[in-house]
Formats: sequence, C-alpha cells, structure tokens
Amino acid sequence: MAENVQSASVSTPLSVIIIGCGRVAEKHLKAISKLKGLELKAVVDTNPESAKRLLGSVKGFAGTKVYNDYKVAIDEVKPSIVSVTVPSGLHYQIAKYAMEHGCNLLLEKPMTMSVAEAKEIFELSQKTGLKLAMGHIYRYLPVVGLVRQDIAEGKYGKVTHGTIYVRWGHGDDYYSSAAWRGTWKSDGGALMNQTIHAIDLLVWLMGSEPEEASAMISQRLRNIEAEDLGMAILRLENGALAQIEGTTATLPSKHTAEFSVFCENGQLSMGLDSGKPHIAVYTTKPNGKTKKLNGYYIRRQLKTGGLFSFKCALNPHLGIYKNLFDSIVENKEPIADAYSGFSSVDTLLGIYKSAKEGRPVKLPLSENFNSTDMTGYFN
Ligand SMILES: NC(=O)c1ccc[n+]([C@@H]2O[C@H](COP(=O)([O-])OP(=O)(O)OC[C@H]3O[C@@H](n4cnc5c(N)ncnc54)[C@H](O)[C@@H]3O)[C@@H](O)[C@H]2O)c1
Repeated sequence: MAENVQSASVSTPLSVIIIGCGRVAEKHLKAISKLKGLELKAVVDTNPESAKRLLGSVKGFAGTKVYNDYKVAIDEVKPSIVSVTVPSGLHYQIAKYAMEHGCNLLLEKPMTMSVAEAKEIFELSQKTGLKLAMGHIYRYLPVVGLVRQDIAEGKYGKVTHGTIYVRWGHGDDYYSSAAWRGTWKSDGGALMNQTIHAIDLLVWLMGSEPEEASAMISQRLRNIEAEDLGMAILRLENGALAQIEGTTATLPSKHTAEFSVFCENGQLSMGLDSGKPHIAVYTTKPNGKTKKLNGYYIRRQLKTGGLFSFKCALNPHLGIYKNLFDSIVENKEPIADAYSGFSSVDTLLGIYKSAKEGRPVKLPLSENFNSTDMTGYFN
C-alpha cells in the first residue's frame, strides 16, 4: 500500500487516466485539454464504444490508449491522477484500488453509497497523504470561496439559516439511458445524485457541521426505484437551520440550483439558472441602509483568481483539475477534499435514514447506513 507518497518535488505534467467514459467524462476531458500541467495517458470503459465517443468529443485525443479493465490500466500506466467517472455504486472499489496503488484521485460525487465505505476512503487518503478532490462542482464557482471566507471571518455576523433548491429536471429518457440510474444500489435518487454537492456547498458556506436531519422523500413523476423529490431540514452545530429541496420532477429544459445564506448583517444568494451563474450579496451598513456587494466580489475574484476563475463558471471541472494539480504540486488540501466527500455522504444517508424511519436522526450517523437500506421504500 502507498504510504505518504507526496514528496517535496513533483515532476510535471501529471499523468491522468479517466475511468468511465460517459456523460460527465466529457467535462473532465475538456478540462484536461485546457490545462498544460496535465497529460491524459489512457481512458477506461467496459464499453469500447463509449471510450471511442468520448475521445472523439474533444480534438486531439483520438489516439489515446483505451483499456476495459481499470486494474490493468492503473497497474500499467501508474498515473499520478485517476479520475473516477463510473456509476456511483462503483466509486468505492475503484477509489480504494487507485489509492492503494499510489494514485491521487478526482472522485465524482457521491464519494460512495455507504457511510462505512466513505469513512474508509477518507481515512485512506489521510493515511497515504494522497490528494483526493471530490467532484463537488459548486465549491469551484467564482466568488463562492470569497463569500465563504467572509462569512467564516464574521463579516456578516451570526449565520441564522440557509436554503437550497436543486430543480434538475430529468425525464424518463434520462433514467432509461443507463440501467444504474435511479437505483438504490448504484445511484440513489434526486437527493443523492443531483443534490449532494449542493448540500455540501450549503453546509460549507454556513461554516458548521450538521448535527441532526429530518427528511421526507417522494416519487412524483419518474419511473425509478429511488426518490424524484426530497425535502430535508438540517440543524447545524452552531444552531443554524438549513432547508433543502432536491428534485428531478421538474422541467428538463429548466435546470436551476439556488443557494441562499442569511446572516445577522447580510444575505447572499447565488446559483445557476439554465447554466448561467448569478449572485446577489447584500449587507447592512452602520446607518441601516442596504448595500449590494456583487461588483465588489466580482472585482475581488478577478484580482485573486483572474479571468480563469470566471471560466470555471462554464465548466467547474476546470477549477477542480487546476486546484488538484496545485494541491499535488504544493502538497496542500484540495478545495473539495476527502472530508467533504465523507461528510456529505454521511449527511445524505442520514437524510435517507430519517425519511425511512419517519423521525429526526442525529449526525454524524453512529452506525453504518447504505443506500441499499432504502430498498423497497416505495413498494
Ligand atoms: N460533478 C458533476 O457535476 C457530475 C455530473 C454528472 C455525473 N456525475 C457523477 O459521475 C458519475 C458518472 O455519471 P455519468 O452521468 O457520466 O454516467 P454514465 O452512465 O453516462 O457514464 C458512466 C460510464 O462508466 C462506464 N462503466 C461502467 N462500469 C465500468 C467499469 N467497471 N469500468 C469502467 N467503466 C465503466 C459506463 O460504460 C459508462 O460509459 C456518477 O457517479 C455521477 O453521480 C457528476
């Protein structure tokens, strides 16, 4: 097993392999194509047609080596970074194998489908010193990090509450496009797939850990095993409440994700509406008047992250890869680190457990809970 493999000097470019050549892999490939410090060495898919399609989707990758077995690819290529973009139920086994063979990870969300497995992956990253960046895209949107820093430093006073809604409509055609979608074993429903990274962002912005979850889930429109609508309330350790709505039972043409945090002296909303990012940040001045801070944050973001940080609004995976590269080279933790992967899985499975048992549950969960513990919930 790899132990603390990160040394002071790392030679670049860093080699990368992508395991899983489906929908999200294209965003990964586009990001890799734009970063000089990364070199794609191979892709892996059990379906050779998917690999071919992916490599044809971005110019310059047609000759890339293709494997159908991730273990052989990791053993032969020995990449610096393994990007895991397979169905969620396979994340655990591939992430474990990759880290045990000395690879840093870009692991898509959710980290795993069980609390015990997420804990194991988090602990493995701690033990080996390998970097693990989660595909928690919202943490990489421009301005988000600056707003979080200001909330954490008390600029807006006490955090009272926060809300998110993720209305990420998908029709039955999306769910029937791959057998794993919408199943308890390999995907979960609208909360586990479409909302987990938004919950991660909300909790991160609010600056406190969840200590209790109350939730209900429902099946309204989609013909799947898991929920297409979920609502939850979290109580955080600092006493603030967080309200969550996640659904795929909305119009597929109108994908929206909205985050709001309310504080004693300010309130901030940001989100994506059909791919377009927006922010609205307000604070109260000492004279009681309200001041809009959008321009202030945009100027500050330009100064600290340059135009690159705004390009990440269109493809946040660009920000994830750049930050992972910097984390490996400078030996620092990624913005969406392994702990964020573990903690968001724990919260999400706590939400499912609360829905299943019809009562609030304490977080972090004291016992393991798997997504498959929800099997039969809607029968
Ligand atoms: N961060 C984000 O914004 C984001 C967006 C979409 C999806 N995701 C996550 O990415 C993952 C993949 O989602 P998707 O929509 O791209 O799925 P997909 O079904 O489109 O693609 C998955 C690919 O993995 C391949 N595959 C399956 N088993 C494999 C194995 N054992 N070895 C190698 N390849 C294998 C499939 O053939 C398929 O090509 C999921 O975990 C999902 O939650 C994240």
